[in-house]
Amino acid sequence: MIIAALLFAQTAAMLLSGYYRHWRQHKHRLQSGNTSAATARTTLPTTSREKKAAGWSGFREFEVKHRVIEDTDGQICSFYLVPMDGKPLPAFQPGQFLTFRLSTDNEPLTRCYSLSDRPRPDYYRVTIKRVLSPSNETGLPPGRSSNYFHDQITQGSRLQIKAPAGQFHLDQESDRPLVLIGGGIGITPMLSMLEHLLVIGSEREIWLFYGARNSREAIMSQRLRTLEQQHPNFHLHLCFSQPLEGDLEGGNYQHHGRVDIDLLRKTLPLAGYPFYLCGPPAMMQSLVPGLEALGIDPANIHYEAFGPASLPGRQSATPDLPPENATAHQVYFSRSGRQITWQPGGGSLLELAETEGIEVDSGCRAGGCGACQTRLESGEVHYESPPDADIASGHCLLCTTTPKSNLVLQL
Ligand SMILES: Cc1cc2nc3c(=O)[nH]c(=O)nc-3n(C[C@H](O)[C@H](O)[C@H](O)COP(=O)(O)OP(=O)(O)OC[C@H]3O[C@@H](n4cnc5c(N)ncnc54)[C@H](O)[C@@H]3O)c2cc1C
Ligand code: FES
Repeated sequence: MIIAALLFAQTAAMLLSGYYRHWRQHKHRLQSGNTSAATARTTLPTTSREKKAAGWSGFREFEVKHRVIEDTDGQICSFYLVPMDGKPLPAFQPGQFLTFRLSTDNEPLTRCYSLSDRPRPDYYRVTIKRVLSPSNETGLPPGRSSNYFHDQITQGSRLQIKAPAGQFHLDQESDRPLVLIGGGIGITPMLSMLEHLLVIGSEREIWLFYGARNSREAIMSQRLRTLEQQHPNFHLHLCFSQPLEGDLEGGNYQHHGRVDIDLLRKTLPLAGYPFYLCGPPAMMQSLVPGLEALGIDPANIHYEAFGPASLPGRQSATPDLPPENATAHQVYFSRSGRQITWQPGGGSLLELAETEGIEVDSGCRAGGCGACQTRLESGEVHYESPPDADIASGHCLLCTTTPKSNLVLQL
């Protein structure tokens, strides 16, 4: 009798807690407004045809509506961007980035910055960290683009921007629980994914691990705490590696230390989650192989690095200039079923595809962002300059390569 009563009580408690959780999520969705949820859900492009139609070709002029300093030291700034043509903005896949063409005093620059807010029809937001001169090497200049943004780009400034792009983005089809991991300024694509999922009322369990030195450096932490209070399916784990005296573990942050495999193992039942990671090289070098070693399917580990290639063993492409006597080569684009002859001096494979009207993703056009990564089904390519992006095995970047032999590209 006692065992039966206990079993009954346990089942009733589980049912009640499930019902309470469901009710809280339902109530929140009602409070946050179904209109915005429905809008966000219906405007996101999913098929590649929709994605192409949703963007624009070339560069479009934007104005900086306003800028907001996000951290105590004034080193991280958000820029709110509205299009000069006043037309609604196409939605993007949360996790994607914008490519900027900057006319600095000294030289034209192209740089990518992740969209740090959810898709909205009226503005885009990017959040940029000032890159200082490396403290260990004297004489090296500070980052050109980031300092230009911080020092020269003010309210009313005009910017030339390419449509959102990039292959590192949320899988919209899935309803599985997911883990977002952002280190330092690598939090930006995670903010976009998180805000999007919460505003559409997704019931997916979302775990966010955000590594920063301390509360001076962590951005939007108050916003994240508010979201956690409002959404029972969102679990925030702020990790401070060098907390300040006023920072309180269990108060304004959860864990003293970096985001590492031990912490993930202690906090999560690891199997089955898709992981999305973006952070500094040290973080990526420990977490990506660490997750693979734990048996996580590599197809479930999605990552992006903002800087140079950071994962050992994946920087396989070395610069290899085309010989002076380079000859013409046949390039077969297998998905499009098109064969095109590349002539010496004919530019990169990206230019070849674009000239022939073959749909191809691109961002930085300089080997930095990985957006143009394409499967190389057969043949070999020359890299015109050392690429920064991590390249998956059997793939190549189109923007910095020319053919070394006849090629088959999965495009
Ligand atoms: C897909 C993607 C998304 C991104 N999203 C974001 C984002 O959301 N927010 C963000 O802040 N950044 C982001 N980045 C990074 C951003 O694109 C820039 O790389 C970053 O702002 C630095 O650019 P910079 O022009 O300021 O620095 P650069 O001028 O390119 O300099 C970079 C570093 O190289 C050093 N350096 C300069 N000259 C030399 C030299 N001769 N030899 C050796 N070192 C040298 C500089 O001191 C500096 O430390 C993203 C990058 C990518 C690819
Ligand atoms: S477009 Fe950025 S790596 Fe090719």
